[in-house]
Amino acid sequence: MGSLINKHVLLGVTGGIAAYKSADLVRRLRDAGAEVRVIMTRSATEFITPLTLQAVSGHPVHQHFLDTSAEAGMGHIELARWADAVLVAPASANFLARLAQGRADDLLSAVCLATEARVAVTPAMNQQMWNNAATQSNLATIKKNAIRIFGPAAGSQACGEVGPGRMLEPVELVTLASELFATGELDGLTVLVTAGPTWEAIDPVRGLTNRSSGKMGYAVAEAAAESGARVILVSGPTSLPDPERVRTLRVESAQEMYDTVHQHAAAADIFIGVAAVADYRPVRAADRKIKKTEETMALELERNPDILASVTALRPAPFTVGFAAETENIEPQARRKLENKNLDLVAANRVGADIGFAADENSLLLVEREGVIELPTQPKTKLARALIHHIAARYRAKNATKVHRLRRP
Ligand code: PMT
Repeated sequence: MGSLINKHVLLGVTGGIAAYKSADLVRRLRDAGAEVRVIMTRSATEFITPLTLQAVSGHPVHQHFLDTSAEAGMGHIELARWADAVLVAPASANFLARLAQGRADDLLSAVCLATEARVAVTPAMNQQMWNNAATQSNLATIKKNAIRIFGPAAGSQACGEVGPGRMLEPVELVTLASELFATGELDGLTVLVTAGPTWEAIDPVRGLTNRSSGKMGYAVAEAAAESGARVILVSGPTSLPDPERVRTLRVESAQEMYDTVHQHAAAADIFIGVAAVADYRPVRAADRKIKKTEETMALELERNPDILASVTALRPAPFTVGFAAETENIEPQARRKLENKNLDLVAANRVGADIGFAADENSLLLVEREGVIELPTQPKTKLARALIHHIAARYRAKNATKVHRLRRP
């Protein structure tokens, strides 16, 4: 099952009596860990006030298309990009008709057209309107366009009739919304991920480390778990909480990371090294705090083991993905790592004072023997999902080839 933790959910509210349930829905989505923004159509505001949804979502409600002040803030394209999922609840018969036609004449319909996020609609209407051939034909078109349809439930309706057309309850919608993120692409596989920096002790209070926050690696671990994998995350010191449904093992030094990785690598189907591992460590760590005595001080360093190279040397080796943090010549450097460490894929990123490390956004160049693919700048959570989607496809292709080779006489 997927999770809504840290997901950006854009809730579209259209005109219908079930709009009164939207406030409860926003609250429950937030309780499940989602960040929620709301778009209301004009007719939705006849049933519930924007102020109510602003209060429960904690953000101003978006209502107008091509309003200069709104477009200067978070316009329709920004909203479409911001969303991990768009959920329209309630979705009126009129809105479904407009969605089926691909109209873009109000904010909500334009965002539904412009987004790459998962879109789901929750129909709510009178049972005759639901059963009408025009509505059913619109629903068939919407389904064909990969939009999910949640419900409706059957029962007594606000108009006094009985039949299908009741909006699902918020509690059911939260479960269905979280399932939007469960892709199943890595079902049954074990994925081992490293993340964060390492800490190489100089003395009990000082050490060598780097600026990795762990955000990229944790996002990769979460995305793999969402895709159905059993995930083990070996993390250097970070201030991030353990990701949901991920077995997180905390370590400090590169040597500890190496040892912990090798306790699990033989059973892993996929290994993804996102950690910024120190290449060198002090030859000796002092037992006590080093005192300030001399004007200068030399620190003798020795090489740490290369975790990634040691995993690809296993027989059989898991499908192995390395990261490359580069300040220049990204593609040639990444290709050199691909060959030298015998990797299946290198995810290369530019790093600098304000990019790569610690930031919430990143971009990646996926370097493989077959070529190069660019994943543009986006939140690390989204980028991680795109990376996992790519890895799942490559893993399947590689293993299909292996099976094919085994079968040949
Ligand atoms: O944690 P964040 O703040 O979100 O930042 C993310 C990130 C910038 C750290 C991440 O996207 C990234 O680029 N990680 C790799 C950083 C790095 O150490 O790159 P490298 O080029 O030095 O190492 C190449 C690969 O070898 C990496 O997969 C690394 O995990 C691995 N390695 C390196 C040294 C070593 N001794 N053992 C290793 O396994």
